[in-house]
Formats: sequence, structure tokens, C-alpha cells
Amino acid sequence: MSLVLLFLFLMTLVPNGNSVGVNWGTLATHHLPANKVVKMLRDNGFDKLKLFEYNEEIMMALTGTDIEVMMGIPNSMLKEMSEEPGAAASWVYNNVSGYCYDGGVNIKYVAVGNEPFLQTYNGTYLRYTLPALKNIQKALDESGVKCQYKATVPFNADIYNSPESNPVPSAGDFRPEVKDLAIDIIEFLYLHDAPFTVNIYPFLSLYSDYNFPMEFAFFDGASKPLRDGYNVYRNAFDANLDTLVYALSKAGFSDMEIIIGEVGWPTDGDKNANTQNAKRFNQGLIKHALSGIGTPARKGKIEVYLFGLIDENAKSIEPGGFERHWGIFEFDGKPKYQLDLTGLKVDKGLTPVEDVKYQLKRWCVLNPEATDLEELPDSISYACGLSDCTALGYGSSCNHLTAEGNASYAFNMYYQVNNQHLWDCDFSGLAIVTDDNPSEEGCQFPVMIAHANSYMLFHGDRLDVLLRIIIGFIVLFSFLI
Ligand SMILES: *[C@@H]1O[C@H](CO)[C@@H](O)[C@H](O)[C@H]1NC(C)=O
Ligand SMILES: *[C@@H]1O[C@H](CO)[C@@H](O)[C@H](O)[C@H]1NC(C)=O
Ligand SMILES: *[C@@H]1O[C@H](CO)[C@@H](O)[C@H](O)[C@H]1NC(C)=O
Repeated sequence: MSLVLLFLFLMTLVPNGNSVGVNWGTLATHHLPANKVVKMLRDNGFDKLKLFEYNEEIMMALTGTDIEVMMGIPNSMLKEMSEEPGAAASWVYNNVSGYCYDGGVNIKYVAVGNEPFLQTYNGTYLRYTLPALKNIQKALDESGVKCQYKATVPFNADIYNSPESNPVPSAGDFRPEVKDLAIDIIEFLYLHDAPFTVNIYPFLSLYSDYNFPMEFAFFDGASKPLRDGYNVYRNAFDANLDTLVYALSKAGFSDMEIIIGEVGWPTDGDKNANTQNAKRFNQGLIKHALSGIGTPARKGKIEVYLFGLIDENAKSIEPGGFERHWGIFEFDGKPKYQLDLTGLKVDKGLTPVEDVKYQLKRWCVLNPEATDLEELPDSISYACGLSDCTALGYGSSCNHLTAEGNASYAFNMYYQVNNQHLWDCDFSGLAIVTDDNPSEEGCQFPVMIAHANSYMLFHGDRLDVLLRIIIGFIVLFSFLI
């Protein structure tokens, strides 16, 4: 009885199955079948999803679910979208409005570009973003369907800041070089009742600034609070978000809706990237975002999309080795740590992707009998250049390996990424295939998932449909006689 009461009590705390969203990036050499990933999303109660790009296999898997989708348009398409309203219209028609029917896909937002004003892009997308946004919103409005779509632009938090002389949120404003353009975009979004989307990463603040107080990056940190008049900040996320709230207020948009398009913590590839920190940050974030406490400058729930769902071993590591390790789930769909998505401290774990197919249990390692090691360094850099050795870096999970261990790690990653072809484990006789798992405590030598060839998948799906049609005919026929 008391259990039932407790359950009812918990239910009232989460109106409409409130939960957090998640970003599903697909820059990986090997993909899990989309329908299995979508089942995992539903099993875990993720009810909002952000995609960086239209993907037919994912859209097919989402068809018939009620998962709310924000679909992205890559920066590389902004120029065309800004110059050709027809291109925007056909993108919308093919990739969005075609899914608006009962039992279709619940698309709610279109994200025009991804951090197009990021400083490292040197202004490449500045002049395309607003015209592209206008063309897309117009096409969405004219698509003549009952689904009400809104276009938004996910910005990096580097479009606003506070002056070094007064580093408090209330002094926040947009960066002078992009201020006018940013405000034009905000005005357009505001008039269309669309949200402002921003990506906030306390991990990156910590990574880029040696003086950043580590504890301030977390939500339960014991660091000295930041005082800003009557406002007291105990975590970097709130301070960052309020810097935006104040910048928006100064521009006359104090009630602008804000969505956090990306926020998260990686688990490898840097000294501060590990599962303990990632769990601590993400769990604290979810609890905080759903609590309704809000920030000192703005009360209420915070809508967030975690970054990210699954590790992406083909992401650029220019920003750092951690880029390939943002996933809450490993490349094979196993949760890296437990995370309660309702923020209620119910110690409920995460469900993995089920029925994952792997390649054979074999690895490629340094041949212990190899004597001529002259080519070894070149072979290692070749193997790492075409696979992923970010776990070997300083502060990463496999950084403690010996020089021989390093070589084995590099050879194995190359071999796995290339689907275990015998000829990919040779390196002029330096490498050899083994059945003995070379993994050590804390340092995994992975076996790759079976390569899901998308042509095969389609083929399978068609066959499946065909079979169902045939069976349908047989059933129909048996009724007739
Ligand atoms: C749909 O989106 C994909 C991925 O971004 C793109 O390649 C394709 O051109 C889009 N379709 C249309 C008709 O624009
Ligand atoms: C931006 O400019 C810097 C310095 O001029 C250059 O090194 C970098 O490659 C440029 N990046 C892009 C994306 O154009
Ligand atoms: C293994 O490789 C990593 C990354 O390249 C390097 O930092 C480390 O020093 C290497 N270890 C040995 C023992 O050579």
C-alpha cells in the first residue's frame, strides 16, 4: 500500500512524463541499427531527440513513436538555403513535412545550422544564417500541414560573455562583432514564437582554463560561490545561462524562451573526462533542470538536450581527444554509468541497446616475436591516424600502457575499425591476431560491432514488407475459400 502511495506521489512530481532530451550524433565508423537504438530511447524514457542532420534510417525507426524531434541542417547547407528559397522548400518537403501524418514522426523544431557563429569558423556562416532561417521558416509555414514547426538556431555560448573587468552574469552581453546579427536573429525567432537555442559546456570552460575552479563546474560542488549583487551562483551552468538571460534582457527580450541544445560531459580523452565526473555532472544537471528551481535570474524548468547519446569514433579531435567520448552510451549501446533521467534520485539504471551483433572475439596485437622494430612508430601513427587512439592520450583510460601496449592498442583499433580483415593485422609482420583479450582494468581493447551496411538493412526491410504482404494475401485467400 505504502509503495503504491509512494509511486503516486512520485508520479505527481513528473507531470506529462517530463524528461530530458538527447543529441544523437552519427559521426561513427560503425552504426547500431537505428530501430534498436530507438527502442532503447523508448525503454529509457528519452522523449526528446535532437538530430544534427536528416537520416532516412533514423526517421524510419522513429516513425510511429511519439518521440519529439529537433532536426538539424548542417552548416555546409546554409549557403544554399540562404540563396535558394526553392532548396529550403524542397528540404522541408522531403525531410520534414512529409512525416506529418498520424503515425508519422513528431518533428517539432528545425535547427538551422549548428553553432554557425562559432569563433573558430572565422565568420564563414555569419551572413548565411539569418536568410537561411527565414527561408526555412517560410517553407515550414507554407508546407500547409497541421504540424506546427518552429525553426531555431543552436548557438555556441561564445556569442555572449561578460567583460573581464566585471565577470558576473548581470554584466553579460553579446560579443560586439556578432551583436547586431545575433539580435536580428533573436528578433526573428521571437516574432515567430520560436526558442533561442544555446549549447553550454562547463567541461570546456574547465578544459580551456587552468585557473577554472573545478568544483564550480558541478552542481553539488563545494566551491566558493560567485556573488552578483543579490544573486548567488554555485555552479558554472547557471552563471553561463544567466549571462545569456541578461544579454537578452538588455536587447529587449527578457521573456525569450531558451532551450539548451547541448550540454554534457565526456568520459575519456582528457584528465577530467571520466565516468565519475560525467555521471556527477549529468545527474546533477538533470536533477537541477527538472526541479523547477531554475537559475537566480529565471525560475522554472530548464529544457535540455544532453550531449550525447552514443560515442562517435569518427569525430574530429581538433578540439581535443575527448570529442569522441561524449556518449552516455558506449559505441555498442551499453550505458557507461547509471543515470536517472527523471531527476528524482530513483536509482533506476539505464537500459542498453538490446541484441547487438559483434564481430568475432579476436584482437590484433604487437607480435611478441617481432625483432625489427624500426618501422614501429610509423606503423602506430598510421594505424592511429585511420582509427581512434584517443584513449592513449595524457589522462585517458589507456595512458598507463607500456610502449608495447601502445602498439597493440593502435593495431587493434585499426583492425577493428576495418572489420577484422586478416590483411589489416600485418604491419610488415609487426602485428598478429590473437584470441586472448588484451584488455586491462580500466583500459578496454574493444571488439567492434558488426558492420551494419545500410544497403543490406534496406534490403532486409523491403524483404520484411514483402513477406508481410505475401502472408497478408495468404490470409485473405484462405478467408475467400
Ligand atoms: C534531406 O537532408 C539530407 C541530409 O542533410 C540532404 O542530403 C538532402 O539533400 C535533403 N533533401 C532535400 C530534398 O533537400
Ligand atoms: C580561421 O582562421 C585561422 C587563422 O587565420 C586559420 O588558421 C583557420 O584555418 C581558419 N578556420 C577556418 C574554419 O576557416
Ligand atoms: C603511449 O602513447 C601515448 C600517446 O601517444 C604517449 O603519451 C605515451 O607516452 C606512450 N607510452 C609509452 C610508454 O611510450
